[in-house]
Amino acid sequence: MTTAPSNPQRRKTILDLQAHKGKTPIVVLTAYDAVFARLLDPHCDCIIVGDSLGMVLYGMDSTLPVTLDMMIAHGRAVVKASSQAFVVIDMPFGSYQESQEVAFNSCVRVLKETGTQAVKIEGGAEMAETIAFLVARGIAVMGHVALMPQHVHALGGYRFQGRDEQSRKRILTDALAVEKAGAFAVVLEGVEESLAREITEKLTIPTIGIGASPACDGQVLVTLDMLGLTPRQPSFVKQYADAGSLTSEAVSAYAKEVRARQFPTLKHCFTKKE
Ligand code: KIV
Repeated sequence: MTTAPSNPQRRKTILDLQAHKGKTPIVVLTAYDAVFARLLDPHCDCIIVGDSLGMVLYGMDSTLPVTLDMMIAHGRAVVKASSQAFVVIDMPFGSYQESQEVAFNSCVRVLKETGTQAVKIEGGAEMAETIAFLVARGIAVMGHVALMPQHVHALGGYRFQGRDEQSRKRILTDALAVEKAGAFAVVLEGVEESLAREITEKLTIPTIGIGASPACDGQVLVTLDMLGLTPRQPSFVKQYADAGSLTSEAVSAYAKEVRARQFPTLKHCFTKKE
């Protein structure tokens, strides 16, 4: 008989995340590469490889041009560099909406080629059958309702959702449909606070809020936003550091020293030993 190591470093699972419901908040941030995955891993319950990388890393105007190959390349780096956080990879626009079969094939590529534990799909009631199809075939799915960045043009911009009774009803119906379809958790983005609170109370799966409510079962932010590394941040972001200014100062000091031949010194060179 083999004995398990006394303190095995194991990855969190959907059961670990679901155990937070109604207890302590789930800590979630985004990462797109090994550098940030390594930094986030000890502190986060879950890392989302968001398709926000299209705008944040690649300077695209929206997340719509992001491809499956991009998500796979970035997702693989994050999975490899993390060891305890649960990893979720966003399915990009066009990779899952057409049919259940297309969605299944895209998810299979993501799971096989990255080693991720779960995928995230934007959409409410209209995606419920697809989510159920994926879950029935063993794929762990996180939902994403309300402000769905892949719907930016249909929504008329990145606008807070739940302003009138009709849209509040639709968002609640969407969240309930996603839960019924078998999603293990759902992101609530850009939702009026009391509605996010109500959805969190009504759902049995965890809600992960971004621009939503402190009552959500977890919170997520785009890491480069909260570090001050993006040119402008949405109003719901709290900036925890000014890493942009720190980086500028460091780069400016380097440029000055290189121009003045102060860097490198002999300490930074290989020299022949006598
Ligand atoms: O794309 C993204 O980064 C996301 C998270 C903010 C949840 O969807």
